[in-house]
Amino acid sequence: MDTEGWLADTRTSYDTVATSYADEVRDLLDQTPCERAALTLFADLVRTTGGGPVADLGCGPGRITAYLCGLGVDAFGMDLSPAMIEAARRDHPGLRFEVGSMTDLDLADASVAGLVAWYSLIHVPDDEIGSVFAHFRRALRPGGPLLLGFHVGDESRLKMQGYGGHPMKVYVHRRQPGQMAAWLNDAGFTVEAQMTLSSAESTLGGILFARRRPAVR
Ligand SMILES: C[S@@+](CC[C@H](N)C(=O)[O-])C[C@H]1O[C@@H](n2cnc3c(N)ncnc32)[C@H](O)[C@@H]1O
Repeated sequence: MDTEGWLADTRTSYDTVATSYADEVRDLLDQTPCERAALTLFADLVRTTGGGPVADLGCGPGRITAYLCGLGVDAFGMDLSPAMIEAARRDHPGLRFEVGSMTDLDLADASVAGLVAWYSLIHVPDDEIGSVFAHFRRALRPGGPLLLGFHVGDESRLKMQGYGGHPMKVYVHRRQPGQMAAWLNDAGFTVEAQMTLSSAESTLGGILFARRRPAVR
């Protein structure tokens, strides 16, 4: 499928489920201590590299953006789905959320101190990950931390309904942490830590910390 095809299907799917998705995940971090610890470590890494704006890409209804803001991070959210952004603004008035796609990232070069993509790369096909990571690298300050959350596995599945039984049409791509790390390395990131876990968020989830390598002269 071409880029416009999967983006349109993903946008329509998340527009359809935005309200029920927001209801389902609103308090999920309360049940996921390892995920909270990863976000806390990420907030520390942002702070120790000088602080600054942090982009939560594929933010959905904004729970991760809000959690990071609660830790003192200057986070803002971006999502493909306008209905998700509406839900995020409704749930977290006062925080910044914008519609946008990580496939055509509208952020200036080296403009963010950190990047998070929390269970949002799961919809990006393998052959577009390199281009998405190139956008991440361009937008991130040298030395800036990147945090990824994703489903671990080898298969891709077409999800036709979800979050209260609403119709959806999205591919969910599971990946091995080693594959993600190799793609990151190729894109100019140094992978610093990986963990796999089982939680209310994912039966087998992967969390990966990386850092933008300085430009090679
Ligand atoms: C499973 S949800 C995760 C939402 C949020 N990160 C969370 O953990 O609650 C996946 C999100 O990724 C967004 N998404 C998918 N492809 C995207 C893209 N190319 N650019 C930006 N957001 C995207 C979807 O609209 C959806 O809100």
